[in-house]
Amino acid sequence: MIPPGSVVLDLMSSWRSHWPEGHPKERMVGLGLSAPEMQDNPDLDEYVVHDINNNPVLPFDDDTFDAVVITVSAQYLTRPIETFQQINRALKPGGIVIVTFSNRMFPTKAVRVWRASSDRERMDLVASYMDGAGNFERIRGGFVNTDESPPGDPIFSVVSNKAAGDPPPAES
Ligand SMILES: C[S@@+](CC[C@H](N)C(=O)[O-])C[C@H]1O[C@@H](n2cnc3c(N)ncnc32)[C@H](O)[C@@H]1O
Repeated sequence: MIPPGSVVLDLMSSWRSHWPEGHPKERMVGLGLSAPEMQDNPDLDEYVVHDINNNPVLPFDDDTFDAVVITVSAQYLTRPIETFQQINRALKPGGIVIVTFSNRMFPTKAVRVWRASSDRERMDLVASYMDGAGNFERIRGGFVNTDESPPGDPIFSVVSNKAAGDPPPAES
């Protein structure tokens, strides 16, 4: 789903990015709350400590990343529309955002609407963040457990792409 050789942002990063073993990437940047955790993450080439709830403005230039992932953390976003607008800005045109989540959370930290939602409603909620931010297309989601996944431990994903923009004008 993420093309080989991509520049990737692991947003709300920590000890591990769960990057598929052997899948080539050019560079992965982590952004999270804990420097010691991200220092220990073998997939990260660099990291930034930044609280996106305090300040959703991502410290990256426009059109920087081929892919942005948010793994088992979207339930803690208190300013999701601004956050997804920033993700859109930092993605290259056509770039992909992948939000993956399970049915686990720290209930005291998750936003109320997440706690009150079913798994299916959480997929709709994340899709509504992307839709509300604008300039995302092909918003899609589903249950993504592999055959080896433990029963009763569901994983869901919601994915979309930054609009690719207008094609360049034809040469005359
Ligand atoms: C359940 S952990 C998941 C970490 C990692 N994404 C993973 O897949 O293992 C939630 C992470 O979200 C990050 N986080 C929570 N609130 C955040 C915020 N306001 N800004 C940036 N990161 C945040 C924390 O640093 C924490 O590492």
